[in-house]
Amino acid sequence: MIRLENIYLALGGSEVLKDVSFHLRRGETGVILGASGSGKTTALRLILGLLKPDSGRVFVDGEDITDFPEERLLEVRAKMGMVFQAGALFDSMTVGENVAYRLIEKGGFSDEEIEEKVRRSLRFVGLEESIDQMPSELSGGMKKRVAIARGIVASPAIMLYDEPTAGLDPLNSHNITNLIKRLKEEQGVTSVVVTHDIPLAFEVADYMAFLHDGEVCYTGKAEGLPASGNDCVREFINHSIGAGIGGSRAGSVNGGAG
Ligand SMILES: Nc1ncnc2c1ncn2[C@@H]1O[C@H](COP(=O)(O)OP(=O)(O)O)[C@@H](O)[C@H]1O
Ligand SMILES: [Mg+2]
Repeated sequence: MIRLENIYLALGGSEVLKDVSFHLRRGETGVILGASGSGKTTALRLILGLLKPDSGRVFVDGEDITDFPEERLLEVRAKMGMVFQAGALFDSMTVGENVAYRLIEKGGFSDEEIEEKVRRSLRFVGLEESIDQMPSELSGGMKKRVAIARGIVASPAIMLYDEPTAGLDPLNSHNITNLIKRLKEEQGVTSVVVTHDIPLAFEVADYMAFLHDGEVCYTGKAEGLPASGNDCVREFINHSIGAGIGGSRAGSVNGGAG
């Protein structure tokens, strides 16, 4: 469903991704785990066709999108829902308007259809009652759930999440984790989750790629990661555990830009 094949990419003169390969089958959840600056967001931007690799290929839903022109990339992006790292709700719009945005942009839906889809998405994340509220009235966890509702409103086959639990407390992180799992189980959505949150990664991953300085140090089942014997993996896990249960989340405050 989603495949990165031997990707090399330099940005601003430095090599950001080095021979990165990643293969995710339909209906699975793939996690790209790694510290801040390891290249996770860049990998998502490649999948969205927002960046082109210097070499290597990007496949989405059976198509090699690497050299697609912009209009074909728009079609590819229409299959995807995206939850950006910095919530990125429009502050001047209600929750409902935020969720409806993608449908209105796409066009071709009646007001009734839009309302129905918006309510269904908000119901899925448990926020139908907040439809007329403004983002400023919501907690961080609620905003993140609205961002997920917005991502799923057009029923995408693929969901991409960039640090979906960053800055959230354990309870809210747990809620987001459950939503990601339910989208897979109930709707067969294929997901890529980019994160440095170890508990989240182990909860949702069918398949995991560990990125370190733009290189993949491990790919395979989540269970195999701790025993993989890789120095970079061990260092990352020890550091996160050493920082306490919330370590990976506390780290997100410092590493928020990553
Ligand atoms: N547009 C850019 N120009 C130059 N360097 C960039 C650009 N985007 C990202 N980088 C660099 O690439 C590396 C990986 O960035 P990123 O993919 O955002 O990492 P992550 O999401 O894992 O924190 C970082 O060192 C970052 O500074
Ligand atoms: Mg990032």
